[in-house]
Amino acid sequence: ASTLGASAAEHGRYFGTAIAAGRLSNSQYSTIAGREFNMITPENEMKWDTTEPSQNNFQYGNAEQIVSFASSRGIRVRGHALAWHAQQPGWTNGMSGSTLRNAMLNHVTQVATHFRGRIYSWDVVNEAFADDGRGSRRDSNLQRTGNDWIEAAFRAARSADPNAKLCYNDYNTDNWNDAKTQAVYNMVRDFKSRGVPIDCVGLQSHFTGGSSYPSNYRTTLSSFAALGVDVQITELDITNANATAYANTVRDCYAVARCNGITVWGVRDSDSWRSNESPLLFDGNGNKKSAYNSVLSAL
Ligand code: XIL
Repeated sequence: ASTLGASAAEHGRYFGTAIAAGRLSNSQYSTIAGREFNMITPENEMKWDTTEPSQNNFQYGNAEQIVSFASSRGIRVRGHALAWHAQQPGWTNGMSGSTLRNAMLNHVTQVATHFRGRIYSWDVVNEAFADDGRGSRRDSNLQRTGNDWIEAAFRAARSADPNAKLCYNDYNTDNWNDAKTQAVYNMVRDFKSRGVPIDCVGLQSHFTGGSSYPSNYRTTLSSFAALGVDVQITELDITNANATAYANTVRDCYAVARCNGITVWGVRDSDSWRSNESPLLFDGNGNKKSAYNSVLSAL
């Protein structure tokens, strides 16, 4: 096959990208997006600050733009992200305790209900663990509503959209030996053992150089999968688009039956949140980079 999405499909996987609604009018951008990818994640448009700018006033216009771009092309959508410490609307600032908890659960319910039946998988909770080397939960306003806020969010999402796969998504969970990876693993194992509805784990995989792709990445993927969840690589980008690290990442996913897809975090380097690191598969002029070829041949 001659595109990322078609190659992945030959292996029963998808290959996706993050999309920004404001860039869809750029024809180079939308042409590449529509040609190469068969999964789309809205980069910012489904986040709490965008979808509920004032409490109980839901705004879906930007998200719907992306969803219709996708659905008109037969491209599926990963929803991102229902509950997260970042990109919260200002009105949550003074909230805490059950007031904040209920606002968060209402948000999860409303947004997942609005998009019911149209989302392949939701990042229900994003980045809830700390980088402290001890596997702690991240201290956040949501965490301070009680340690069970994550499972409460998953239960609300399941009720709202029973057919979407529900994922826990995080970064720095790539190296199997890291305390953060182990902490997420233990949470997922606990959720599975207690019947908390979780279907997948998302590894963002923002690699900061060829060397930050860990040699035990495949072990991480297969260990999560062995818990009975799908594994998705959700926000892949690699400093200077190291071609070897890209190919290794893709091969590791393909080696694990339940690693069902890969998403890169943007189309061209100029679209990237890390644009100064040129971490994507297309350059700022829309040309395929060597990492593109290494991914395509790894697929
Ligand atoms: C980033 C977007 O790419 C930026 O446009 C935005 O300014 C900040 O958020 N982890 C995530 C993503 O889960 O939502 C983040 O996206 C990148 C890190």
